[in-house]
Amino acid sequence: MIRLDKYLAEAGVGTRSQVKKAVRDGRVKINGETVKHADLKVDEETDTVTFDDEEVYFSEFVYFMLNKPQGYISASRGWDPNVIDLIAEPYRNLFPVGRLDKDTEGLLLISNDGQLAHELLSPKKLIEKEYYTEVDIPLTEEDISRIESGIEWHGESYRPAKYKKISDHAMTLTVTEGRYHEIKRMIEACGSKVTYLKRVRMKNLVLDENLKPGEYRFLTPEEIDDLKAV
Ligand code: URA
Repeated sequence: MIRLDKYLAEAGVGTRSQVKKAVRDGRVKINGETVKHADLKVDEETDTVTFDDEEVYFSEFVYFMLNKPQGYISASRGWDPNVIDLIAEPYRNLFPVGRLDKDTEGLLLISNDGQLAHELLSPKKLIEKEYYTEVDIPLTEEDISRIESGIEWHGESYRPAKYKKISDHAMTLTVTEGRYHEIKRMIEACGSKVTYLKRVRMKNLVLDENLKPGEYRFLTPEEIDDLKAV
């Protein structure tokens, strides 16, 4: 058993004084009942705690899945407009795990777990990132085999990507490097241009289709375990 304010603070909801205020303001429920006292005891194994009706998982770290909208920069606070500003206060020390271009939509993990971020972003780990991609000029068979065998472009080499056709102008591309403008440059090397780009998966974490651009949710404990699994 643990005090409610400690539970919320350690889960990353805010500082002790911020969470006490949140409890007083009626934003916190235990097992569906609004509670008004931050010194209540919570059983971290069996009780369900919500903050603004979002379940709060007891953990040193927080993990959100954001459907990044276009027009936002994948950076921490200080840049305008940035993805962290989309996450409601009072979560602290959050950063985006990796980057999507300003005009790219889709799955962006937001966390304060530096160790996991390092594991997921290390180029050596070859973590898969899958993108739904629309292009202006359809790719030829030759373009597709270049993409699948690895492209050289402007002195840079891009590792082989997985290609799955959706239509003449749409496909999914799965890459393992996470290089700057990786998809756009591979498509440019084929003489075409990306007209819409959305990340739909990172490792085994799939973008929740219920999230509209700009919306986010906590990862479930299973999703966190899967991301951490080697
Ligand atoms: N590749 C790109 O070109 N842009 C992104 O945002 C992600 C991958």
